[in-house]
Amino acid sequence: MSSTTSKISIATLIPADFPDAGSLFREGFLRLCKQVPELPARILEESVLKEKLERLSQSHTISGAFEGEKLVGYLGAFFIDDFRDTGRKAAFSPEWAHAVQKGAEARINNLLYREAAALWGSQGCTMHAITLLAGNAVEEKVWFWNSFGMIVVDALRSTQTLNASLPEGFSIRQASPDDAAAICELEAEHCQHYSAPPVCMPPRSVSTTEEMGEFLTRSPNSIYLAWHGDHPAAYIQFEKTTFGGASVIQAEDSIAITGAYTRPTFRGRNLAASLLDEGLKAYAERGFTRCSVDFESMNPEAASFWMRYFKPVCFSLVRYPENTA
Ligand SMILES: CC(C)(COP(=O)(O)OP(=O)(O)OC[C@H]1O[C@@H](n2cnc3c(N)ncnc32)[C@H](O)[C@@H]1OP(=O)(O)O)[C@@H](O)C(=O)NCCC(=O)NCCS
Repeated sequence: MSSTTSKISIATLIPADFPDAGSLFREGFLRLCKQVPELPARILEESVLKEKLERLSQSHTISGAFEGEKLVGYLGAFFIDDFRDTGRKAAFSPEWAHAVQKGAEARINNLLYREAAALWGSQGCTMHAITLLAGNAVEEKVWFWNSFGMIVVDALRSTQTLNASLPEGFSIRQASPDDAAAICELEAEHCQHYSAPPVCMPPRSVSTTEEMGEFLTRSPNSIYLAWHGDHPAAYIQFEKTTFGGASVIQAEDSIAITGAYTRPTFRGRNLAASLLDEGLKAYAERGFTRCSVDFESMNPEAASFWMRYFKPVCFSLVRYPENTA
C-alpha cells in the first residue's frame, strides 16, 4: 500500500529501513532520558529495537513516512483480541513501534495515522491504542486531537529510600505463603475498586490462596503487608515485570510494582508510602536500582499517590472509532 501527500510518501517499512527507524526512536528516547535519568539504556542497543521491529513486521504492517529517500516517521501495531478485557479487537502500537522526526510531529503522525486507521479498520480493529514516550507535549496534542484519551501511565523511580515513617499502631512485614489468605481478602476489595466509578473497568478475577502462595515462592516476587493488630490493613506487591508494561523500563536491575491496596479506613496515614519504602529498601539491597509501576490514569487514588513518588515515562492512549460501536 502506498500514497503520496506533497513531499511525504507512505510505504511499508522493510528491514533495510530498521536502522533509520531505530535512530528516530532513539532521538525521542534520549530526550526523555534527560528528564528521567533512571531509565535503563537497554532499548538503546541497536539489536534490541531491531529484533522488536523484525518480530512486528513478520506478522503486521509497519508504515513508513519518507521525504524523498529519507525516513521521517514510522507507525506499526500488533492486533490484540479482547484488549483489556473489553471484548474488542485492538490495534496496539507500543512505544517503540512508532516515532517521527522532531518538529514535524503533527504532519507526519497525521499522515501515518490516516493510513494506519484504514488498515486497522479493514482488519476488524474496533479500538486503537498507542503508547507514547512521556515528555513530548506536541506529540500528546497530536493524538488528543485525533480523539485519543489517556488510560495507563508507566512511571519509574530509583530504589532509593523515601524515609517514610510508619504510623503508630501498625506493623509491616514481608508476606510468607502462610499470609496468602489475608492477601486474597485484600485483593478481593482491591479488584472491586477497579469496577467501581470512576474507574469503571471490566471485572477482574481474584487469585486463589494456592495461586497467591505459589506467587510468593517465586523469586524475586514479594508482597509487603501492613497489619493493624491482627487485621491486614494494606499491601504492596512486587515482581520482575508487569504484564503489558512498557518495554523501555525493562532491565535486569528493574523491579515492578504490580499491586497496591490500603483499606479505605486506613488511607491517608502514610501506610502505602511505608510499604513502598520497605520494598524499595529490600530490593536496593538485592541490587535492583529502579522500580516501575503502571496505573490507570482514571484511578484518582493511584494517580495522586504514584505521581508523588514516581516520574512518568510512558502514556498509553486509546480511541474507540465511533463507527465501530
Ligand atoms: C493508592 C493507595 C494504595 C494509597 O494508599 P494510602 O495508604 O492511603 O497512601 P498514603 O497514606 O501513603 O498516601 C496517601 C495520601 O495521604 C497523604 N498522607 C499520608 N500521611 C498523611 C498524614 N499524616 N496526614 C495527611 N495526609 C497524609 C499522602 O501525602 C498522600 O497524599 P496524595 O493523595 O497526594 O498522594 C490507596 O488509595 C488505595 O488503596 N487505593 C485504591 C486501590 C488503588 O488504586 N491501588 C493502586 C494500584 S495501581
